[in-house]
Amino acid sequence: MALLELIYTSFAEAQNDTDDVQNILASSERNNVASNITGLLLFDGARYIQILEGESQDVERLFMTISKDPRHHSLELLHKGPILERSFETWRMAYEALPKGLLSDLAENMAVYSLEQDGEPLGVDESFGAKLNGMFMDAIAAE
Ligand SMILES: Cc1cc2nc3c(=O)[nH]c(=O)nc-3n(C[C@H](O)[C@H](O)[C@H](O)COP(=O)(O)O)c2cc1C
Repeated sequence: MALLELIYTSFAEAQNDTDDVQNILASSERNNVASNITGLLLFDGARYIQILEGESQDVERLFMTISKDPRHHSLELLHKGPILERSFETWRMAYEALPKGLLSDLAENMAVYSLEQDGEPLGVDESFGAKLNGMFMDAIAAE
């Protein structure tokens, strides 16, 4: 069974809606254990970036569900590819709120970088998850 990481960006339907985020995280807590999905959700008040990790069919199924969710729009897939190990092993869905505007550059860079990648599974230090995890840990440390 192949492990997959999938990263997308989208825009929140309601700006700064922390209720939406709380409800989304509650669903993630419930469902991601059952489907063995791990990952990170970043939100800067306008834009989401989320990484989903898991068995490829589980990740694809959840992404289909999330794509149809009316709480966000304009989804753009930034990266999808095989990985050797998860970067958010212990997190059902880690969450970090960031200052407004911070995610635009990240989304742009990630889309460009992804095009340069070939089809080999990425190792533990090479995956997109590993990069996001590093940023996430830095953000926590700075709080
Ligand atoms: C930005 C965003 C991220 C989401 N992430 C997850 C997730 O990681 N896991 C999940 O089960 N649902 C997630 N959802 C919610 C799903 O779209 C869907 O509402 C939910 O899975 C339905 O399950 P429930 O009936 O148990 O709440 C997300 C929604 C949005 C808008």
